[in-house]
Amino acid sequence: MSLIKYNNFSFRYKKNETYQLNTINLKIEQNKFILLAGATGSGKTTLIRSMNGLIPQFYAGFYKGSVEVNGKDTVETPIPDLSTEVGIVFQNPENQLISMNVEHEIAFGMENLGVPREEMNKKIKEVIQLTEIEHLLDRAPFELSGGEQQRVAIASILVLEPQVLILDEPSSLLDPMMAKKIIKLLKKIQTEKGTTIIISEHRMDLVIPVADEIILISEGKILEHDTKDNVINKDNFQNQIINKPVIYSIFNQLKKEKLYNEKIPTSILATIKYLKSLN
Ligand SMILES: Nc1ncnc2c1ncn2[C@@H]1O[C@H](COP(=O)(O)OP(=O)(O)OP(=O)(O)O)[C@@H](O)[C@H]1O
Ligand SMILES: [Mg+2]
Repeated sequence: MSLIKYNNFSFRYKKNETYQLNTINLKIEQNKFILLAGATGSGKTTLIRSMNGLIPQFYAGFYKGSVEVNGKDTVETPIPDLSTEVGIVFQNPENQLISMNVEHEIAFGMENLGVPREEMNKKIKEVIQLTEIEHLLDRAPFELSGGEQQRVAIASILVLEPQVLILDEPSSLLDPMMAKKIIKLLKKIQTEKGTTIIISEHRMDLVIPVADEIILISEGKILEHDTKDNVINKDNFQNQIINKPVIYSIFNQLKKEKLYNEKIPTSILATIKYLKSLN
Protein backbone atom coordinates (compact mmCIF):
# COMPACT_ATOMS: atom_id res chain seq x y z
CA MET A 1 0.00 0.00 0.00
CA SER A 2 1.22 3.51 -0.79
CA LEU A 3 2.02 5.77 2.18
CA ILE A 4 0.32 8.72 0.49
CA LYS A 5 -2.18 8.32 -2.32
CA TYR A 6 -3.88 11.09 -4.30
CA ASN A 7 -7.09 10.36 -6.19
CA ASN A 8 -7.89 13.14 -8.71
CA PHE A 9 -7.27 15.74 -6.01
CA SER A 10 -7.80 19.40 -6.89
CA PHE A 11 -7.66 22.41 -4.58
CA ARG A 12 -8.00 26.16 -4.78
CA TYR A 13 -7.51 28.62 -1.95
CA LYS A 14 -10.71 30.40 -1.00
CA LYS A 15 -9.79 33.73 -2.58
CA ASN A 16 -8.54 32.29 -5.87
CA GLU A 17 -10.54 31.57 -8.98
CA THR A 18 -8.24 29.00 -10.57
CA TYR A 19 -7.10 25.73 -9.01
CA GLN A 20 -3.65 25.70 -7.39
CA LEU A 21 -3.61 21.89 -7.44
CA ASN A 22 -5.18 20.36 -10.51
CA THR A 23 -6.30 16.70 -10.72
CA ILE A 24 -3.37 15.28 -8.80
CA ASN A 25 -2.83 11.52 -8.98
CA LEU A 26 0.25 10.61 -7.01
CA LYS A 27 1.53 7.65 -5.04
CA ILE A 28 4.30 8.05 -2.47
CA GLU A 29 5.99 4.79 -1.44
CA GLN A 30 8.11 3.78 1.53
CA ASN A 31 11.86 4.43 1.82
CA LYS A 32 12.25 6.88 -1.06
CA PHE A 33 14.17 10.14 -1.29
CA ILE A 34 12.05 12.40 -3.45
CA LEU A 35 12.88 15.79 -4.93
CA LEU A 36 9.84 17.99 -5.50
CA ALA A 37 10.84 20.33 -8.31
CA GLY A 38 8.99 23.17 -10.02
CA ALA A 39 9.24 26.87 -10.75
CA THR A 40 8.30 29.45 -8.15
CA GLY A 41 4.51 29.55 -7.74
CA SER A 42 4.09 26.12 -9.37
CA GLY A 43 2.39 24.70 -6.26
CA LYS A 44 5.14 22.89 -4.31
CA THR A 45 4.23 24.35 -0.91
CA THR A 46 0.54 23.88 -1.66
CA LEU A 47 1.10 20.22 -2.56
CA ILE A 48 3.10 19.74 0.65
CA ARG A 49 0.29 21.29 2.70
CA SER A 50 -2.10 18.75 1.22
CA MET A 51 0.06 15.80 2.29
CA ASN A 52 -0.97 15.86 5.94
CA GLY A 53 -4.40 17.44 5.88
CA LEU A 54 -3.41 21.11 6.43
CA ILE A 55 -5.08 21.48 3.05
CA PRO A 56 -8.05 21.43 3.11
CA GLN A 57 -8.57 21.37 6.91
CA PHE A 58 -6.46 24.35 7.97
CA TYR A 59 -6.27 26.37 4.74
CA ALA A 60 -9.76 27.34 3.65
CA GLY A 61 -10.68 26.62 0.06
CA PHE A 62 -12.46 24.27 -2.29
CA TYR A 63 -11.38 20.75 -3.11
CA LYS A 64 -12.33 17.81 -5.29
CA GLY A 65 -11.11 14.22 -5.12
CA SER A 66 -9.24 12.81 -2.10
CA VAL A 67 -5.89 12.19 -0.45
CA GLU A 68 -5.14 9.21 1.80
CA VAL A 69 -2.31 8.85 4.30
CA ASN A 70 -1.87 5.17 5.12
CA GLY A 71 -5.45 4.63 3.99
CA LYS A 72 -6.78 7.48 6.18
CA ASP A 73 -8.69 10.21 4.39
CA THR A 74 -7.08 13.62 4.99
CA VAL A 75 -10.45 15.35 5.26
CA GLU A 76 -11.92 13.04 7.87
CA THR A 77 -8.83 12.32 10.00
CA PRO A 78 -7.80 14.97 12.58
CA ILE A 79 -4.58 16.82 11.59
CA PRO A 80 -2.61 15.68 14.71
CA ASP A 81 -3.21 12.03 13.73
CA LEU A 82 -1.95 12.71 10.22
CA SER A 83 1.01 14.87 11.19
CA THR A 84 2.54 12.13 13.32
CA GLU A 85 2.68 10.03 10.13
CA VAL A 86 3.61 12.80 7.73
CA GLY A 87 5.84 15.39 9.43
CA ILE A 88 6.57 18.70 7.73
CA VAL A 89 9.42 21.14 8.35
CA PHE A 90 8.38 24.44 6.82
CA GLN A 91 10.57 26.97 5.08
CA ASN A 92 11.14 29.08 8.16
CA PRO A 93 11.55 26.61 11.06
CA GLU A 94 11.76 29.46 13.58
CA ASN A 95 7.98 29.83 13.44
CA GLN A 96 7.58 26.14 14.18
CA LEU A 97 9.70 26.05 17.34
CA ILE A 98 7.67 27.05 20.37
CA SER A 99 9.50 25.84 23.50
CA MET A 100 11.98 27.68 25.69
CA ASN A 101 14.61 24.97 25.35
CA VAL A 102 15.55 22.43 22.73
CA GLU A 103 15.07 19.34 24.90
CA HIS A 104 11.53 20.36 25.73
CA GLU A 105 10.87 21.19 22.08
CA ILE A 106 11.72 17.61 21.15
CA ALA A 107 9.72 16.13 24.04
CA PHE A 108 6.69 18.32 23.41
CA GLY A 109 4.98 16.19 20.73
CA MET A 110 5.44 13.00 22.75
CA GLU A 111 4.13 14.64 25.94
CA ASN A 112 0.97 15.50 24.04
CA LEU A 113 0.64 11.89 22.95
CA GLY A 114 1.16 10.63 26.53
CA VAL A 115 4.32 8.62 25.77
CA PRO A 116 5.77 7.16 29.04
CA ARG A 117 8.80 9.06 30.41
CA GLU A 118 11.28 6.19 30.02
CA GLU A 119 10.36 5.55 26.40
CA MET A 120 10.44 9.29 25.76
CA ASN A 121 14.00 9.60 27.09
CA LYS A 122 15.14 6.69 24.94
CA LYS A 123 13.67 8.22 21.78
CA ILE A 124 15.03 11.69 22.54
CA LYS A 125 18.50 10.23 23.00
CA GLU A 126 18.26 8.45 19.66
CA VAL A 127 17.15 11.49 17.63
CA ILE A 128 19.61 13.91 19.21
CA GLN A 129 22.41 11.52 18.25
CA LEU A 130 21.09 11.12 14.73
CA THR A 131 20.66 14.88 14.19
CA GLU A 132 23.84 15.74 16.12
CA ILE A 133 22.35 18.35 18.44
CA GLU A 134 23.53 17.03 21.86
CA HIS A 135 25.32 20.32 22.51
CA LEU A 136 22.17 22.38 21.92
CA LEU A 137 19.76 20.75 24.38
CA ASP A 138 19.78 23.57 26.96
CA ARG A 139 19.60 26.36 24.41
CA ALA A 140 16.50 28.32 23.44
CA PRO A 141 15.41 27.48 19.87
CA PHE A 142 15.00 31.15 18.91
CA GLU A 143 18.67 31.80 19.77
CA LEU A 144 19.97 29.20 17.33
CA SER A 145 21.33 29.64 13.81
CA GLY A 146 19.17 28.73 10.81
CA GLY A 147 20.95 25.40 10.33
CA GLU A 148 20.69 24.54 14.03
CA GLN A 149 16.98 25.41 14.05
CA GLN A 150 16.50 23.22 10.99
CA ARG A 151 18.08 20.28 12.86
CA VAL A 152 15.97 20.87 15.97
CA ALA A 153 12.80 21.03 13.86
CA ILE A 154 13.79 17.79 12.13
CA ALA A 155 14.54 16.13 15.51
CA SER A 156 11.23 17.24 17.04
CA ILE A 157 9.35 15.66 14.14
CA LEU A 158 11.54 12.59 13.79
CA VAL A 159 11.00 11.63 17.41
CA LEU A 160 7.35 10.91 16.55
CA GLU A 161 8.62 8.36 14.00
CA PRO A 162 6.73 9.62 10.95
CA GLN A 163 6.81 7.44 7.85
CA VAL A 164 7.24 10.52 5.69
CA LEU A 165 9.38 13.57 6.51
CA ILE A 166 8.82 16.58 4.25
CA LEU A 167 11.00 19.67 4.03
CA ASP A 168 9.92 22.77 2.17
CA GLU A 169 13.03 24.50 0.80
CA PRO A 170 15.24 23.69 3.78
CA SER A 171 18.30 25.38 2.37
CA SER A 172 16.76 28.75 1.53
CA LEU A 173 18.08 30.23 4.79
CA LEU A 174 21.33 28.29 4.85
CA ASP A 175 24.75 28.71 3.33
CA PRO A 176 25.84 25.95 0.89
CA MET A 177 27.94 24.09 3.50
CA MET A 178 25.07 23.98 5.98
CA ALA A 179 22.61 23.02 3.24
CA LYS A 180 24.84 20.13 2.21
CA LYS A 181 25.01 18.93 5.82
CA ILE A 182 21.22 18.96 6.15
CA ILE A 183 20.80 16.96 2.91
CA LYS A 184 23.38 14.46 4.19
CA LEU A 185 21.46 14.16 7.46
CA LEU A 186 18.22 13.53 5.56
CA LYS A 187 19.85 10.77 3.50
CA LYS A 188 21.13 9.22 6.74
CA ILE A 189 17.59 9.30 8.18
CA GLN A 190 16.25 7.52 5.11
CA THR A 191 19.01 4.90 5.17
CA GLU A 192 18.81 4.19 8.91
CA LYS A 193 15.07 4.38 9.44
CA GLY A 194 13.51 3.74 6.02
CA THR A 195 11.70 7.07 6.27
CA THR A 196 10.50 8.55 2.98
CA ILE A 197 11.99 12.02 2.54
CA ILE A 198 10.30 14.60 0.31
CA ILE A 199 12.17 17.80 -0.27
CA SER A 200 11.22 20.87 -2.24
CA GLU A 201 14.47 22.54 -3.15
CA HIS A 202 15.87 24.93 -5.71
CA ARG A 203 19.44 23.75 -5.15
CA MET A 204 19.22 20.75 -7.46
CA ASP A 205 22.96 20.12 -7.39
CA LEU A 206 22.75 19.21 -3.70
CA VAL A 207 19.64 17.03 -3.80
CA ILE A 208 19.84 15.15 -7.10
CA PRO A 209 22.87 13.05 -6.12
CA VAL A 210 20.95 11.53 -3.16
CA ALA A 211 17.44 11.45 -4.70
CA ASP A 212 15.66 8.29 -5.84
CA GLU A 213 12.71 9.98 -7.54
CA ILE A 214 11.71 13.40 -8.86
CA ILE A 215 8.23 14.89 -8.88
CA LEU A 216 7.96 17.76 -11.34
CA ILE A 217 5.07 20.16 -10.81
CA SER A 218 3.95 23.03 -13.05
CA GLU A 219 0.90 25.26 -12.61
CA GLY A 220 -0.56 22.86 -10.07
CA LYS A 221 -0.23 19.78 -12.28
CA ILE A 222 2.15 16.86 -11.89
CA LEU A 223 4.11 16.76 -15.14
CA GLU A 224 6.43 13.94 -14.19
CA HIS A 225 6.91 11.49 -11.32
CA ASP A 226 9.49 8.80 -11.89
CA THR A 227 13.03 7.75 -11.02
CA LYS A 228 15.45 10.66 -11.20
CA ASP A 229 17.25 9.22 -14.25
CA ASN A 230 13.99 9.01 -16.18
CA VAL A 231 12.76 12.47 -15.19
CA ILE A 232 16.07 14.21 -15.93
CA ASN A 233 15.88 12.81 -19.47
CA LYS A 234 12.42 14.27 -20.08
CA ASP A 235 11.89 17.44 -22.14
CA ASN A 236 9.59 18.71 -19.38
CA PHE A 237 12.47 18.67 -16.91
CA GLN A 238 14.91 20.17 -19.38
CA ASN A 239 12.51 22.98 -20.30
CA GLN A 240 10.92 23.77 -16.91
CA ILE A 241 13.90 23.57 -14.58
CA ILE A 242 16.24 26.40 -15.39
CA ASN A 243 18.53 26.03 -12.37
CA LYS A 244 19.54 22.43 -13.10
CA PRO A 245 23.20 21.41 -13.10
CA VAL A 246 24.73 22.65 -16.36
CA ILE A 247 26.08 19.19 -17.18
CA TYR A 248 22.50 17.99 -17.82
CA SER A 249 21.98 20.74 -20.37
CA ILE A 250 25.25 19.81 -22.07
CA PHE A 251 24.31 16.13 -22.37
CA ASN A 252 20.77 17.03 -23.42
CA GLN A 253 22.15 19.18 -26.23
CA LEU A 254 24.52 16.39 -27.26
CA LYS A 255 21.50 14.07 -27.41
CA LYS A 256 19.62 16.53 -29.59
CA GLU A 257 22.57 16.71 -31.94
CA LYS A 258 22.71 12.90 -31.94
CA LEU A 259 26.25 12.95 -30.58
CA TYR A 260 25.16 11.07 -27.45
CA ASN A 261 22.36 8.53 -27.31
CA GLU A 262 22.33 7.14 -23.79
CA LYS A 263 20.72 8.41 -20.56
CA ILE A 264 22.10 11.66 -19.17
CA PRO A 265 24.54 10.69 -16.42
CA THR A 266 23.24 11.95 -13.06
CA SER A 267 26.37 11.69 -10.97
CA ILE A 268 29.91 13.00 -11.31
CA LEU A 269 31.24 9.44 -11.27
CA ALA A 270 28.97 8.34 -14.12
CA THR A 271 29.95 11.44 -16.14
CA ILE A 272 33.66 10.76 -15.64
CA LYS A 273 33.17 7.10 -16.56
CA TYR A 274 31.56 8.14 -19.83
CA LEU A 275 34.25 10.74 -20.59
CA LYS A 276 37.00 8.19 -19.93
CA SER A 277 35.30 5.71 -22.25
CA LEU A 278 35.71 8.15 -25.13
CA ASN A 279 39.35 7.36 -25.74
N1 LIG B 1 -2.47 30.99 1.47
C1 LIG B 1 -2.69 31.23 0.17
N2 LIG B 1 -3.82 31.86 -0.26
C2 LIG B 1 -4.05 32.10 -1.57
N3 LIG B 1 -3.20 31.73 -2.56
C3 LIG B 1 -2.07 31.11 -2.22
C4 LIG B 1 -1.74 30.83 -0.83
N4 LIG B 1 -0.54 30.20 -0.79
C5 LIG B 1 -0.15 30.08 -2.08
N5 LIG B 1 -1.05 30.62 -2.93
C6 LIG B 1 -0.95 30.63 -4.43
O1 LIG B 1 -0.90 29.30 -4.88
C7 LIG B 1 0.02 29.18 -5.99
C8 LIG B 1 1.08 28.15 -5.64
O2 LIG B 1 1.86 28.68 -4.58
P1 LIG B 1 2.91 27.81 -3.76
O3 LIG B 1 3.29 28.59 -2.59
O4 LIG B 1 2.36 26.46 -3.55
O5 LIG B 1 4.11 27.74 -4.85
P2 LIG B 1 5.58 27.18 -4.68
O6 LIG B 1 5.83 26.23 -5.80
O7 LIG B 1 5.78 26.67 -3.31
O8 LIG B 1 6.49 28.48 -4.94
P3 LIG B 1 7.92 28.89 -4.28
O9 LIG B 1 8.97 28.11 -5.04
O10 LIG B 1 8.00 30.35 -4.58
O11 LIG B 1 7.88 28.58 -2.82
C9 LIG B 1 0.56 30.58 -6.23
O12 LIG B 1 -0.16 31.13 -7.28
C10 LIG B 1 0.30 31.31 -4.93
O13 LIG B 1 0.09 32.68 -5.14
MG1 LIG C 1 7.01 27.23 -1.71
